[in-house]
Amino acid sequence: MTILPVRLWPAALTALGLAAAGLAFQSPAKPKSQAKNPGWTLVVSGDTDGYLSPCGCTSPMTGGIRRRGTAVRDIARHSRVVLIDTGELGGEPGRQGEMKAETMAQSLTNLDAAAINVTAKDARLGKGSLMSVARLAEGRVVSSSLPNGAVEGVRSTVERGPFVIAGISDGIGESLAAPSVPDSVAVESLLRTAKEKRGAAVLMLDGSRAEAVAMAKRYPALRAIVYHLNGWPPDRPEHVGKVWLLTPGERGKSVVSVRFDGRSFDGYSVKRLGPQFLDDATIQRYYSAYLRRVDRANLLEQIPRVPSPAFAGSASCAACHVTASHVWEKSGHSHALATLEKQGHGRDPDCVSCHVTGLTSERGFRSRVETPNLAFVGCESCHGPAAAHVADPKGNRLAHLGQAVCTTCHTPDQSPGFNFVSYWQKISHK
Ligand code: HEC
Ligand code: HEC
Ligand code: HEC
Ligand code: HEC
Repeated sequence: MTILPVRLWPAALTALGLAAAGLAFQSPAKPKSQAKNPGWTLVVSGDTDGYLSPCGCTSPMTGGIRRRGTAVRDIARHSRVVLIDTGELGGEPGRQGEMKAETMAQSLTNLDAAAINVTAKDARLGKGSLMSVARLAEGRVVSSSLPNGAVEGVRSTVERGPFVIAGISDGIGESLAAPSVPDSVAVESLLRTAKEKRGAAVLMLDGSRAEAVAMAKRYPALRAIVYHLNGWPPDRPEHVGKVWLLTPGERGKSVVSVRFDGRSFDGYSVKRLGPQFLDDATIQRYYSAYLRRVDRANLLEQIPRVPSPAFAGSASCAACHVTASHVWEKSGHSHALATLEKQGHGRDPDCVSCHVTGLTSERGFRSRVETPNLAFVGCESCHGPAAAHVADPKGNRLAHLGQAVCTTCHTPDQSPGFNFVSYWQKISHK
């Protein structure tokens, strides 16, 4: 009862300008030892929320779609995989969010995912974006919360292997200017289809664990419910009656899998996508193409900026503040943009603001060519614009700084081990 995805839109890549990047679809992961091992594995990924690369700025970083590719293909070597993705593809609405969602669609298609849910946040990317995601995903995008045909290319259920899979999300109709199907109608229709096809009903729910529990109690014929969770997926499997509750946890950092022998689940496993998972080569190409699109679209130039006094650049402080300049030169701050460039993120609005001087100021960093003197975390990242001070040091004193200046960049996400005393020691320059 496997439904093969139909290549409805071979021109989609060209339309997006990706063909120019030299990309072509590769054949999806296929198990090598199917005959020996007839079982199925339901693999759950998702809640990427725009975090296509591993999260955070402190090692070990976790997650990212390149590692996810490796993890999924590893599982597919030993078992027949049905991969489902909970959606939350692009993160924040906007041009970059759309590019992320499209890259996710390509990657999940290459991994031959069976179904990708549409969450409320995905819907906020808009109908046009969702349609292009659905085209790239070649029939894999599901939403049972939308009437059939409401958004071209989005299906209400998908069948793959022993599973019938649906996805629901409250109120997405509103963002997509389409009517919504009530949850009860959507779930009952899933259960009917599963019964007809003698398949196991799997529901992706754009909701919390509490909502999943309530849903499991109300519909005990469901076999698995997938929900959202901030944090790591539980180490042990959870069920309500016979319904399995599954979650990939936050920001695409983990992949969860359960074996299915046609009757019941077992062998629950959580893979945290740490550096032991190498980057998948094909997904790496999609990812690099995404970074090139971000670069070419000049998204960095379009960020909002506020008026500010003029910056002078760190070099102009050196003559008078010898020790401070010496300490700074040796610190990581002085090559923070180079750190990003090495990873291909040198023009990525998601990253640059904390790795340069004054990105959100009208007279701050623009590009390495236009503003080479601000292409790092400079003196003025902390002390503020100081051209006036350079011209007349005693006439234009700079404000005294406290530790609050650090935590604009050293946030819990990007610098979880931040502690003012120990960090300041490393760059102390009074
Ligand atoms: C404009 C953003 C920004 C601000 C403000 C900032 N940092 Fe950083 N900091 C960074 C970035 C980015 C890195 C990583 C640089 C790299 O390795 O490329 C970093 C790295 C560091 C490091 C490790 C690198 C090294 O040199 O050993 C220390 C220590 C540090 N910061 C201390 C501080 C302290 C203390 C403050 C506040 C007084 C502060 N930072 C304020 C962005 C910032
Ligand atoms: C909110 C500010 C902020 C943003 C946004 C940010 N960074 Fe950072 N980044 C930092 C800080 C602060 C550090 C230093 C962390 C530490 O040493 O505790 C850092 C360090 C790094 C490092 C050095 C890690 C190491 O251990 O050597 C890399 C690489 C990096 N960031 C890449 C990125 C990338 C890629 C992005 C975008 C996807 C990004 N950063 C976005 C603040 C930020
Ligand atoms: C990462 C943030 C950061 C960077 C980068 C930085 N400073 Fe500072 N600087 C501070 C903080 C915070 C203090 C105050 C520390 C305190 O009083 O405990 C300070 C203190 C100073 C002081 C002494 C001021 C006083 O009140 O005694 C001077 C001078 C100074 N910095 C100059 C510089 C120069 C020049 C550069 C670049 C070469 C630079 N700083 C780079 C954060 C920074
Ligand atoms: C021409 C020499 C000169 C240059 C260039 C210069 N400063 Fe200063 N700076 C001084 C003097 C002099 C003081 C005040 C010392 C005093 O009166 O206690 C000072 C004080 C400071 C202080 C302490 C706060 C204050 O205003 O008293 C900071 C912070 C500072 N400078 C940062 C910078 C930064 C950042 C740059 C580069 C953008 C820079 N300075 C460039 C001479 C200079």
